Amino acid sequence: MKQIKYNKLLHGGDYNPDQWLEYPNVLENDIKYMKEAGVNCVSLGIFSWARLEPKEGMYDFQWLQEIMDRLYSNGIYTILATPSGALPHWMTDQYDEVMKMYGSGVRRKHGQRHNFCPSSPVLREKMHAVNEALAKQFGHHEGLLAWHISNEYGGDLKEVGCHCPYCEANFRNWLRERYQTLDELNHAWWTSFWGNIYTDWEQIITPSDNSELTMHGMKLDYKRFVSDQMLDFAKAEIAAVKKYSDRPCLSNFMETFKELDYFKWAGEFDIVSYDNYPRWHVNEMNEAALQAAFAHTLIRSLKKQPFLMMESTPSVVNWFPRNSLKRPGMHALSSLQAVAYGADSVQYFQWRKGRGGFEKYHGAVIDHKNGNNTRVFRDVAELGDRLKRISEKVLGTCNKPKVAFVFDWENFWAVEDAAAIVSPFKYLERISDYFKGLCEAGVDVDIVNMDDTLEGYALVIAPANYMYRGNYIDTVKRYVADGGTYVTTYWSGEVNDSDLCFLDEHPLRELLGIRTEEIDVRPLDTVNHVLYQDKAYEIKDLCAICHAETAEVLGVYEADFYQGYPALTKHKYGKGQAYFIAAEAEYEFIKALYHEILQENGLNCELTDAIAKNVFITRRVSKDGTRSLWFVMNFNTTGEVIHTNFECEDIETGEVLRDQVELAAYQCRILERKYS
Ligand code: GLA
Ligand code: ZN
Repeated sequence: MKQIKYNKLLHGGDYNPDQWLEYPNVLENDIKYMKEAGVNCVSLGIFSWARLEPKEGMYDFQWLQEIMDRLYSNGIYTILATPSGALPHWMTDQYDEVMKMYGSGVRRKHGQRHNFCPSSPVLREKMHAVNEALAKQFGHHEGLLAWHISNEYGGDLKEVGCHCPYCEANFRNWLRERYQTLDELNHAWWTSFWGNIYTDWEQIITPSDNSELTMHGMKLDYKRFVSDQMLDFAKAEIAAVKKYSDRPCLSNFMETFKELDYFKWAGEFDIVSYDNYPRWHVNEMNEAALQAAFAHTLIRSLKKQPFLMMESTPSVVNWFPRNSLKRPGMHALSSLQAVAYGADSVQYFQWRKGRGGFEKYHGAVIDHKNGNNTRVFRDVAELGDRLKRISEKVLGTCNKPKVAFVFDWENFWAVEDAAAIVSPFKYLERISDYFKGLCEAGVDVDIVNMDDTLEGYALVIAPANYMYRGNYIDTVKRYVADGGTYVTTYWSGEVNDSDLCFLDEHPLRELLGIRTEEIDVRPLDTVNHVLYQDKAYEIKDLCAICHAETAEVLGVYEADFYQGYPALTKHKYGKGQAYFIAAEAEYEFIKALYHEILQENGLNCELTDAIAKNVFITRRVSKDGTRSLWFVMNFNTTGEVIHTNFECEDIETGEVLRDQVELAAYQCRILERKYS
């Protein structure tokens, strides 16, 4: 896979000069300001199809050529977009089929963006032509760093899938390939339920609230198809540019966007990149920082390589219910947090606020007023300078966790659709404490899905693995037998790939040493606790009822008809061990358990033994393993002190720190440790 050829951390963002072609002064000032702000890379042409091809088949690339040339002659590189994010009027006027059809059967009309049908032959033809033409003209431009394929695929706020006849036919083809026969499909979808047995492939239509929404197996396959079909379109886009260009391709993903299985998507792109919009000053600081940490970690883990943060806001967004300004210091901290978890860039949406349109009040480096004389500009310029200075030390390093956290898109789809225990079951919320416990302990994590081998990890945390798909059962058995430590929870091992319940026994019964039976949702008028290590921890919600067979019982339920039953077990299996958390208890319980497990496995944060609340620590390691960079981030509004276990050097100030690190409010310090 190709990488970007540039020796600095990228700093810049989405640049929309096509909104300003009638304002030459603005364009001139942009270059001047970009240089002042330490901008070395912009994304161009993201929604420019209407400018690039004003009439069908007539391309006008002159404006883009001039701007790209001018940027490059000023040392600013381009990541050039393919324009499928927004379709021009001539196309939608003439060809209905390019717009997606909703489940209601209503075809979208022209408007907004991210709303095309990924199967439409006409759209594919037009996309191919314009992408090829762009690649021919710009594919070898010295200023071209990479291709930005489309924009936030699937980002239609209403519905991601398309239900048009082309998509429906493709869905059937996809199913034929998967099942070969209708008998197989009928079994996988359990169609005898409510008499839904298919006798002809043509009877299959896409599920929606206007048709079928109760067959879980079908809905799951449709979700797989929607992700695959959009990816198929993306692959066609990549192929078109790669025909004439040797530069790497990326697309800006959207954190944990449910509809696209980014583990699968990542394999088709040279570089993984994404857009990051944490709720600073909107959510509680710790929660916002944790969510961002999860997103950065996930995106890095898709390829287990540094990623690019393609968008973030230099100040506010305009789409939260309340859009508070970033407090002084927060811009640098939030940007460096991305770098801490593996980003090799800090890119913004957007360089300049438009005069009109929906995003005219979205944060930008350049406001409508005051040019470079703004607080935001100064923050950005200061960060640009810092990024330049730390580039050499940071590039070539990456986080190398010993702990894996299982997060799986197909499980995401299945578990939220189960129609059981609680509705809605919010997967991300339910697993967040398990991530938080590691994060707050300063332990780096890779987020993996069920296709990963798990080899090389000392510890695997696998909460709410409702579905066991592919070879996951064997993978886990092998992993633990070979000496790994596996921690899993209630509401795991319920269904197979087709969302069919496992029969007879829990598939990991022997490994866990328990027999699972029922699962309770704590009645709201009752209180219950887990008794563990002489303490009582409050039960939040779910209580799996199980029987220890060969497992050791570490914690029990305090009350109710399952009083004394195992709430936490541990079992040796081969050279390793497996924990089963039966009770969904308060965070302090997870913290106490993690404390035990991390200690036992020698996985504690090496830098320090005690981490203050709202301080995050993560580490990037050089390829040859001779040095580590510890990113220590203080999300508190007050100063903090961290006591360190070894000597390290602040890579920005050169200060050698022997046993403590002082952090100002919202400060991020990068500490280097060299190993001889
Ligand atoms: C997304 C889009 C951008 C812009 C920003 C606003 O990330 O990709 O075009 O709309 O949101 O936050
Ligand atoms: Zn369609």
